[in-house]
Amino acid sequence: MPVDRLKDSIRAEIEKLRRTGILKPPERIITGFIPTDEIEGSRFLLEGERNRKFLRMNSNNYLGLAQHPKLIEAEREASEELGVNPGAVRFIDGTTKYHKKLEEKLANFHYKESAKIFNCAYMANLGVALSLVNKMTYVISDELNHNSIARAIRIAGVSSENKAIYQHNDVDGLRRALENIPDKIERTIIIFDGVFSMRGDYAPLKEIVKLAREHDKRFKDGVTTIIDDSHGTAAFGVTGRGTLEVTGEYGVDVITSTLGKAFGAEGGYAAACKEIIEIIRQKADTYIYSNPISPGTANAGISAVDIVNGEEGKKMLARLSENSEYFRKGIRDIGLETIPGIHPIIPVLIRDTNKVKNMVLELYKMGILVTGLTTPVVPSGDETIRIQISAVHTKDDLDYALNKFKEIKE
Ligand SMILES: Cc1ncc(COP(=O)(O)O)c(C=O)c1O
Repeated sequence: MPVDRLKDSIRAEIEKLRRTGILKPPERIITGFIPTDEIEGSRFLLEGERNRKFLRMNSNNYLGLAQHPKLIEAEREASEELGVNPGAVRFIDGTTKYHKKLEEKLANFHYKESAKIFNCAYMANLGVALSLVNKMTYVISDELNHNSIARAIRIAGVSSENKAIYQHNDVDGLRRALENIPDKIERTIIIFDGVFSMRGDYAPLKEIVKLAREHDKRFKDGVTTIIDDSHGTAAFGVTGRGTLEVTGEYGVDVITSTLGKAFGAEGGYAAACKEIIEIIRQKADTYIYSNPISPGTANAGISAVDIVNGEEGKKMLARLSENSEYFRKGIRDIGLETIPGIHPIIPVLIRDTNKVKNMVLELYKMGILVTGLTTPVVPSGDETIRIQISAVHTKDDLDYALNKFKEIKE
């Protein structure tokens, strides 16, 4: 049977992944959620762990909005009104008033003319690339960009002569890449993460936008800058406007982001000028040929944007920022190394694969969920335990985790 030979090949492939150390373990199953009280932040229950409660320090739910009663209520209300599924893709009457309203809110949130929702940010990046890249396009990308960007560049069919990758956040490298673009190129795109998810550092927007403007006139369609601020949106900056707010540089042309991290809902989107969003609507396969998020999810997204725009959101963001600073300082005070920064992603650099694995396991035994990043996911020597801070972590939670880090450090 042909499928038997295929199975053999797949088994060999999986064995190879295991030997190279990149085989993913079985997924843990979350079976329960215990809301926060004054002292203890929220806790999770896991399958096979009976009533043991786990503190999550590996979640993108930076503001705790995923469990916010207003989002839950918004999702319920819209689902009761219109059903739990849009019924078709956007062009075939799958567009509800909730999708439209959410797009308006997201455009306003990012100070852009227009926005388009995708099922997730991964699909948004693919869609943007499919809409903006043609044969005469040159794409420049940061080496540490998210997988969805690297994949989008490939899927959009950018040839090796028409792309360049600069070293992480290396402005001189970007300048050189721009200078080396052949004159026949008509359209140049610089694409980069806002916040880099493995490190918690962020792109030098002022310098990138300045370089883009300097080279703009050389190309028929100029130089367009695209930021994926999935980890910055609603998690970074006093009002949650992300890396643009933190750097004070709002001149980035296209923003892609997710509703599935700090906004606590689900889905992705692109925000830009009307023309770019219209060509996305016309040409982005991942938008055109795929069902949108449900009306309920869209309404949860609307509620999330409203909360972040209001006083409650500002308080949450302030608390997130305080918590992040407190934990980062705590990690340094106990003699562990981290990358300087202000984002709630806090990489604790251990620089040894076995140590990372053992520490992650020890923390798990102590009821703390963290992420170990080892080779080949990160370069050898950069092995890290990645912590993600949330506004719903209490001081007690942070102290508990810091004490446990101290205990297992040696
Ligand atoms: C920078 C970046 N872009 C895109 C994504 C994908 O987001 P989504 O889950 O909405 O597809 C992620 C999530 O891991 C990310 O970190």
